[in-house]
Amino acid sequence: MKKISKAVFPVGGMGTRFLPATKSIPKEMLPIIDKPLIQYAVEEAIEAGVKTLIFITSASKHAISDHFDPKPLLRQKFTDEGKTELVDKLDTLTTQITRVFIPQGEPLGLGHAVLQAKEVVDDEYFVVILADDYIKPEKGVNATKQLIDASIKYDASVISVEEVTDDRVSSYGIVDVGNNESDVNLIQSIVEKPKLEDAPSNLGVIGRYVLSPEIFALLEETQCDKSGEIQLTDALAKLLDKPNNLYAATLKGKRYDCGHKLGYVQATIDSALDDNSISKQVADFIHKL
Ligand code: UTP
Repeated sequence: MKKISKAVFPVGGMGTRFLPATKSIPKEMLPIIDKPLIQYAVEEAIEAGVKTLIFITSASKHAISDHFDPKPLLRQKFTDEGKTELVDKLDTLTTQITRVFIPQGEPLGLGHAVLQAKEVVDDEYFVVILADDYIKPEKGVNATKQLIDASIKYDASVISVEEVTDDRVSSYGIVDVGNNESDVNLIQSIVEKPKLEDAPSNLGVIGRYVLSPEIFALLEETQCDKSGEIQLTDALAKLLDKPNNLYAATLKGKRYDCGHKLGYVQATIDSALDDNSISKQVADFIHKL
């Protein structure tokens, strides 16, 4: 049976929409309440069975490796003081999980970031997770697991999609799955950031993918677009040259695009209203505003 145990986290983007916060803090370290976006993403991957985490980083992203490092001195201090709840919060990663950090060099786009993982991924299907697409952790919801299961079932690459509003179509990769209405459908075409009038549907590609290693050769032959970036969507389109090679799974769960301000604020409010320690006060506060 196919093994899918490696996940790539491209965290090499510039995060210009969150400047000045992202001058020194990677976008993926922005917290939803008290946990950074990257930690939610890593927890989703590990719950789905991933054993190797591959971070594609830029020079200013040391905070991400620091975040997952053990903190033995602090751990000992909290243990000595009997503060077990704080000890639990320090344990961001168990030791059985392998971490690999690969510098992207230059931010030449998502496709270029994924390509940097080629040697470590080798000849296996693998997961890609964009941590700024925050999927609210809820019982029974794991977008990565949904894709892994579908990829094993169809023996193909599978990407997560969700209906987006008309005003957001031109910000997404958009897929055409014909009239199929099941949870997982064969993709007929895919196009990066189309104008609304040219879009084949409203189904936007969101930040979860399970990809065949054949994507690396396709990325290597993908040219930069007008903005000088290598787009993952362009390589995905080439997967369609072979039949039954790329599927779309409709996301189950609530997703917020935390790469832009509105999505980030919405995610924070939704999560705060679900946090028993503050939900009532937050609801009262919003009501009084
Ligand atoms: P975005 O399109 O959100 O770009 O990248 P960005 O640079 O992070 O943010 P803005 O648009 O300047 O505000 C989507 C994902 O791809 C990663 C980002 O870190 C993010 O997780 N990425 C993007 C890279 O790893 N490298 C790149 O060169 C570009």
